[in-house]
Amino acid sequence: MSTYQPAEKRYEKMQYRRCGKSGIKLPLISLGLWHNFGDNDDFENSRSILRTAFDNGITHFDLANNYGPPYGSAEKNFGRIFKEDFKPYRDELIISTKAGWDMWPGPYGNFGSRKYLIASLDQSLQRMGLDYVDIFYHHRPDPETPLEETMGALDQIVRQGKALYVGISQYNAEDTKKAAKILKEQKTPFLIHQPRYNMMDRWVEDSLLNSLEKIGIGSIVFSPLEQGILTSKYLHGIPEDSRAATEGSYLDKSQITDEVVGQVQELNKIAKSRDQSLAQMAVAWLLKDERVTSVLVGVSKVAQLEDNIAAIRNIQFTKEELQQIDNILKK
Ligand SMILES: NC(=O)c1ccc[n+]([C@@H]2O[C@H](COP(=O)([O-])OP(=O)(O)OC[C@H]3O[C@@H](n4cnc5c(N)ncnc54)[C@H](OP(=O)(O)O)[C@@H]3O)[C@@H](O)[C@H]2O)c1
Repeated sequence: MSTYQPAEKRYEKMQYRRCGKSGIKLPLISLGLWHNFGDNDDFENSRSILRTAFDNGITHFDLANNYGPPYGSAEKNFGRIFKEDFKPYRDELIISTKAGWDMWPGPYGNFGSRKYLIASLDQSLQRMGLDYVDIFYHHRPDPETPLEETMGALDQIVRQGKALYVGISQYNAEDTKKAAKILKEQKTPFLIHQPRYNMMDRWVEDSLLNSLEKIGIGSIVFSPLEQGILTSKYLHGIPEDSRAATEGSYLDKSQITDEVVGQVQELNKIAKSRDQSLAQMAVAWLLKDERVTSVLVGVSKVAQLEDNIAAIRNIQFTKEELQQIDNILKK
């Protein structure tokens, strides 16, 4: 039996933003389980991170079939923690998962076929011990499968009661508009887009965010801290327990160049003048735009999560601060 009692005042600690024109509000900060929840990670640390999140009003946990490593293990470990700690609070949570990347061998365990998406969600539900997810995403565009088939699969999943809403991730603005048209025709509840967005990676500003607003859906942005680069972590070398030092991660030491460290040092000065950590300023910088519904952080430690949550205390920027940030990043 779990001894976990969530903080009574959790909903006073967070703010919530409406997701597009839907009935759903998401917390300004959501928690992603891409890293730090696999079988190679410390299970009790994973549990503490989830508890801290919920205790602070974070109602949204984001997963995918292939999070781990090994693939599937983040869902499995989440499922165990859900069963032990969060089951009584299922209706207070928005839980998402995805399929779209390589998951099992052969031609039916990757990309965007109806066969893959439906089978994958069944597996995900089993691993997490859930009857349904709140959001099911197609994880990345598939250049070969007709969009009608992929969007048709998302629709079927909702009709089957296995997801309440659907989303897409990593789609460009053009494909997003095409997907939205099909989903509208099918009357599929299209809630959200999950793109990559942070101070150093601003592709969504070209046209995606405007398109989402027009379509009437929200956005939840991933890798808001550029996987840890937009924190003070790499200012004095590469710590051993960091993502950049971890074999097989998607952040390579070679990305921490002298130029990048120089920029981060300058950004850190602005953060200090705002009485924020650099991580907090990076999160706040995303939230200044109302089209960003939620910022999806990943954390390896409870203290990092607490640091990031405190970002919501100040999400206003002066014109001068924004200009200084752009100058540093040469945007
Ligand atoms: N849809 C997609 O295709 C896609 C792709 C990627 C991610 N995502 C989602 O987005 C979530 C977040 O992505 P991400 O993990 O790349 O996000 P991120 O927030 O940019 O990076 C997270 C990492 O930054 C470091 N960090 C976080 N807060 C910190 C703090 N306050 N101080 C110092 N370091 C801090 C930690 O690294 P250390 O391990 O070095 O401590 C942490 O693991 C994922 O979990 C997943 O749910 C989706």
